[in-house]
Amino acid sequence: MKKVLLVALGSTARADCLAHAIHKSHDSELHSFIQSKNPSVMHLSKSHQIGKLDDFSAIKKYAKQVKPDLAIISPDYAIAIGVADILSELNIPVFAPKKSLARLESSKSFTRRLLEKYQIAGSPEHKVFESLEGIRDYMLYLKDFVVKPDGLTGGKGVKVFGEHMKTIDEAVDYCTEIFSSKGIVVIEEKLIGEEFSIQFFTDGKVCLPSPIVQDHKRAFDGDLGPNTGGMGSYSSSNHLLPFLTKEHLQDAQHITNKVAFALKEEFHEYFCGIMYGGFMLTADGVKLIEYNARFGDPEIMNILPILKNDFVEVCEAATQGRLDKIKLIFEEKATVVKYAVPEGYPENPKKGEVIDISEFANTTAKYYLGAVEEFDSHYPWKLKMGTSRAIATVGIANTVEEAEAIAEHSVRMIRGPVFHRKDIGTKELLQRRVDHMAQVRLKK
Ligand code: AMP
Ligand code: GLY
Repeated sequence: MKKVLLVALGSTARADCLAHAIHKSHDSELHSFIQSKNPSVMHLSKSHQIGKLDDFSAIKKYAKQVKPDLAIISPDYAIAIGVADILSELNIPVFAPKKSLARLESSKSFTRRLLEKYQIAGSPEHKVFESLEGIRDYMLYLKDFVVKPDGLTGGKGVKVFGEHMKTIDEAVDYCTEIFSSKGIVVIEEKLIGEEFSIQFFTDGKVCLPSPIVQDHKRAFDGDLGPNTGGMGSYSSSNHLLPFLTKEHLQDAQHITNKVAFALKEEFHEYFCGIMYGGFMLTADGVKLIEYNARFGDPEIMNILPILKNDFVEVCEAATQGRLDKIKLIFEEKATVVKYAVPEGYPENPKKGEVIDISEFANTTAKYYLGAVEEFDSHYPWKLKMGTSRAIATVGIANTVEEAEAIAEHSVRMIRGPVFHRKDIGTKELLQRRVDHMAQVRLKK
């Protein structure tokens, strides 16, 4: 029996999805170090420890006790502060990059500079600023731009001119705010097009793509409201998207292969784990928005449930530099993920509200628990919500439309003060994406 240590926040459905994949693996036993309680992860684990992700001595102590054959680290924060480094020091194979390599996600300026240094095409026009000097002129020059704080912001720090900032003064104020907390700012040309995510499994030498996914960051139907961690996502049975071809996938693959090579050149070490590219398909082709050094949330739920390979074996092969021997196979199915979130999310979520999911009892609904805890002795059917995304439902079917119907039916079974996006994966929304892309190409 292989022992697998999962290091995770706990309060995300991504952690639960990983726990299910490890639990399902034919010869594996799950042990979890989680920052907050997740009843499902705890239930699936042979042992668990609750602790802070920056408490390295607690993580080491638990790892020494468990003696895992493999560790998988889920959240960006834990990867960015070097949990992979401390586990590697204990000679544990880790499916997650070391701190230095994780700068690919934890520093946007690092990644832009890396692409520049290795002459990898795909970046929008951009400049890195450490003070206000020249910033206003650069904004005026670009006209349409985005402002990005350099570090991790949970996907919520990027502000787009014309949407989150209406005037140049507002944009300069935002930069001043970032500099005053010792930050660095990246200003870049605003890309116009359709976004997509690809989660590549990599051992630093080969990058194996999983089905392409489109996430929905805005809180409300019709892409309205504030940005969130992601309200839901879909993928198609051909593993592309309705507005995107195999050639676009190849472009993203080329960029990613070159970046993996550049990382090895820079650090003399291989990036092992997930290189999750956030791309934009524009009138000028595929552009890179950013890389994350981990699975996406919700995007992980579009890929792991249809992965035919044994997940733990794939991660192990990556840690041994053997991914060239692995053929990743995903079911030719479409998937739709919908998150139920507390009313008021993301700006003013009410904490501690109780939801009832007992309608799931007599169904085969696929769902993953996020920011919820047990409520008295009513587990698993009554749960107390935190302030973040509560439960994700997943539909898997031959078409996106059918998968949407399944995910929607399931998410509606959740009783309590929650809401979700009804439009994710619908025929209408997919058509809008296709029409938007056609419009973008026409404008060129
Ligand atoms: P990031 O934290 O880099 O993923 O950015 C968060 C979101 O901001 C992305 O998912 C995009 O929707 C948007 N964004 C980031 N960079 C750009 C850009 N150069 N042009 C347009 N939108 C962007
Ligand atoms: N879905 C956005 C993220 O995981 O960063």
